[in-house]
Amino acid sequence: MKVLVIGGGAREHALCRSLSLDPQVTALHCAPGNAGIAEVAELHPVDMLDGAAVARLAAEVGAGLVVVGPEAPLVAGVADAVRAAGIPCFGPSKEAAELEGSKAFAKDVMAAANVPTARSYVCTTPEQIDDALDAFGTPYVVKDDGLAAGKGVVVTADLAVARAHALACERVVIEEFLDGPEVSLFAITDGRTVLPLQPAQDFKRALDNDEGPNTGGMGAYSPLPWADPKLVDEVLETVLQPTVDELRRRGTPFSGLLYAGLAITGRGVRVIEFNARFGDPETQVVLARLRTPLAAVLLAAAEGALADLPPLTWRDDAAVTVVVASHNYPDTPRTGDPIGGLAEIAAHDAPHAYVLHAGTRRDDGGTVVSAGGRVLSVTATGEDLTQARERAYTALHRITLPGSQHRTDIARDAAKA
Ligand code: AMP
Ligand code: GLY
Repeated sequence: MKVLVIGGGAREHALCRSLSLDPQVTALHCAPGNAGIAEVAELHPVDMLDGAAVARLAAEVGAGLVVVGPEAPLVAGVADAVRAAGIPCFGPSKEAAELEGSKAFAKDVMAAANVPTARSYVCTTPEQIDDALDAFGTPYVVKDDGLAAGKGVVVTADLAVARAHALACERVVIEEFLDGPEVSLFAITDGRTVLPLQPAQDFKRALDNDEGPNTGGMGAYSPLPWADPKLVDEVLETVLQPTVDELRRRGTPFSGLLYAGLAITGRGVRVIEFNARFGDPETQVVLARLRTPLAAVLLAAAEGALADLPPLTWRDDAAVTVVVASHNYPDTPRTGDPIGGLAEIAAHDAPHAYVLHAGTRRDDGGTVVSAGGRVLSVTATGEDLTQARERAYTALHRITLPGSQHRTDIARDAAKA
């Protein structure tokens, strides 16, 4: 099978890595990709948001499966354009991707499907904003309705900060604060059958001990030794299956990857958000643990045949990934800095630890340089979280990137548990 992956982050590198190890995959293409993906896939330039261009590229390379990684092309309808060209595509339609594209839409679907989530108000005027902030009190949770690359959410005890963020959004969701650890649970679905993956935990704040601003995610680990073993079954029954059923009932079935961001509160599991694609950086650790070859699973989802697949199988290993971000991320990041240490990691730490590239490119001299906010994620597996974490940080310390930052506490507390 020839596969084309759309995107160019560490998530797409993780997807391409798994696909490149799958004997069923005879050719692997990625557009636009990055300097790391170039080592496992043939890269093509493309405007990711242009469905016609992506469909044309898929036909040109003879793809039997297209996998759309990021949310922006999904929300723009790129999966629809690929399917309209007769090529199987892993990724939801434009309409179903609104589950991520609009927080207000997601709230409406959850209400209809009786899925537990934070109580919320959708506000468009200053009066509504003040009423909602007043109703919930502190800490305030204020979410831009539209896509914001994980940075549209402000959680703060400061009323002035909450109010200013709300007023800056065209449409804003203000909601109840959910207290408790967060879990990311992904499910592959064809619109009817739902196949949950292993849960992971992401670290959203920029700095150690969950301080600093929200980011796209600074690290992740899996499994979660502290979680209830029944968690996955419970979330399948109360969240994932009802959501998939509701979207099918509305005539806009969701096929692809349904990402449930959950809070495990004292009163039970609540959905914080849905995403319509694999999470980044959680995918890096979830795929590191998946034993089942990936291509046939994604193709079965694209073709509505998931019910026919045997159950997924998983390694006993634990996995940890730590993101290295540019100077100044999550504000406007500095780019163009040279990245060193990649060859040393390949020489000393592989195969247990490896680098997945995000914002990287080769400059004219062939040097790999930073090209985005999150630059790369160092991923490692081990017998348990302690070993995976040691391997990840040992490898990470070989990376040189002027001004870069990373968290030092990824999976620290879970490894102690
Ligand atoms: P989201 O983009 O909706 O995932 O929000 C980003 C992050 O903000 C989440 O991972 C949480 O850490 C935090 N957050 C969002 N909604 C809530 C909430 N209702 N209560 C507490 N924290 C929240
Ligand atoms: N790690 C959070 C996300 O992918 O949205």
